[in-house]
Amino acid sequence: MSHTERSSIAITHYQDHHFNGVDSLWQEAFPNDPPHNRAEIAIPAKLAVQPELFLVAEDAGNVVGTVMAGYDGHRGWLYSVAVRLSHRGTGVASEMISAAEIRLAALGCTKVNLQVRAENEAVAHFYARLGYESEPRISMGKRLNPAA
Ligand SMILES: CC(C)(COP(=O)(O)OP(=O)(O)OC[C@H]1O[C@@H](n2cnc3c(N)ncnc32)[C@H](O)[C@@H]1OP(=O)(O)O)[C@@H](O)C(=O)NCCC(=O)NCCS
Repeated sequence: MSHTERSSIAITHYQDHHFNGVDSLWQEAFPNDPPHNRAEIAIPAKLAVQPELFLVAEDAGNVVGTVMAGYDGHRGWLYSVAVRLSHRGTGVASEMISAAEIRLAALGCTKVNLQVRAENEAVAHFYARLGYESEPRISMGKRLNPAA
């Protein structure tokens, strides 16, 4: 699908009726994600914190994209950037990220961070086109509840 063929994309905040569409999209886009990132866990957790920063792209009512943003008072973060295979290369992700950036900036956020898994390095080119720079950092994390 080309940019000109794309007609009815709407970017909105997540609502309950989007669940199945988001779940299906994430299974397609992130087939190797660990269980704690599954929709039934990640979505309720996000809806408890800044739900207005969980954005969904719809095409004729069908979920075709997601971006989950957050602002911690210091930095903004982007997660779960995903677009249906059928809609890739038509600008949906770029549009969603721009919408998330606008919402983060409105909260006073001055810098947005994101992480790319090492095995997904090619996607860094996509972010670079949107102005994101690769920074010399070591990404570290710790699970606070290893059982979850
Ligand atoms: C990455 C992803 C969200 C991009 O979505 P998209 O809607 O196709 O992106 P856009 O159409 O806005 O792309 C903008 C530009 O980036 C390029 N681009 C998109 N994905 C790319 C990739 N994986 N590698 C290199 N370039 C890419 C596009 O070709 C486009 O360039 P163009 O304008 O010259 O055609 C989508 O490929 C996806 O869902 N991938 C699987 C999930 C994933 O890896 N998410 C990122 C986790 S960090």
